Amino acid sequence: MSRREAVRAAALAAALCCTGASAQDEPLISGPGSTLTENKCKICHELQHIKRAQLSPGEWADNLRNMKERGTPMTDDEMRMIHEYLSVYYNRDKPAPAPSPDTLASGGDDPMQKLLNANACNGCHSIDKRVVGPSFREVAAKYAGDRGAPARLATKIRAGGQGAWGAVPMPPNPALPEAELQRIAAWVLQQK
Ligand code: HEC
Ligand code: HEC
Repeated sequence: MSRREAVRAAALAAALCCTGASAQDEPLISGPGSTLTENKCKICHELQHIKRAQLSPGEWADNLRNMKERGTPMTDDEMRMIHEYLSVYYNRDKPAPAPSPDTLASGGDDPMQKLLNANACNGCHSIDKRVVGPSFREVAAKYAGDRGAPARLATKIRAGGQGAWGAVPMPPNPALPEAELQRIAAWVLQQK
């Protein structure tokens, strides 16, 4: 994305972080891809926006290209999965099927990816690319050899905050149990 789009995405993410708007926002219908769609689209706007828009599959394809241009961090693969999900569950011409388990949210068999997806971390971070927050590889490089880093990162993930990488804040994650915070922090620091 261009620098201007990145700045806008960051500003929108910051606004979202501090208004708590997402707390009242009803989730999307559960189905394969619903968690991925929520994580990506919630970065900038309320899910209401999506639920109100009943589009045809072709219109969703146009919409997703537009959202990518506006700064939505998603790979072509992710865009394809989100398109499939929206075309089934938010299709103007066909009623939505009954909710079903989000088989994609499982992140395959990798328990760490499951955890990161379940807590929306992957909406703002990836292993090797800067999204809204730093890549996990950059984080691991920055704190290499720093013995206090695991504990500090666990605390930072729980409390959120800004200043280590720039002015954009990370929202807090108060519901994550201590053991999982430590597991995530240790895993992030291994991504060199
Ligand atoms: C980087 C910020 C950003 C992200 C992330 C984002 N959007 Fe948007 N979205 C916008 C902006 C800005 C608008 C209003 C501009 C417009 O109307 O074209 C918008 C408008 C929309 C609209 C209304 C469009 C219309 O024509 O009325 C829909 C539907 C939508 N977004 C869907 C999505 C979906 C689905 C996702 C997740 C894949 C998503 N957005 C992610 C910024 C974003
Ligand atoms: C809305 C976007 C967003 C979400 C969601 C998010 N982060 Fe972040 N994260 C950021 C930003 C922005 C920063 C940079 C903060 C700073 O400059 O101090 C960051 C920083 C970090 C850092 C480095 C902290 C430091 O002090 O160097 C780690 C580790 C991290 N995030 C992990 C996570 C994990 C794990 C999750 C999910 C539980 C998560 N993030 C969810 C945006 C996000």
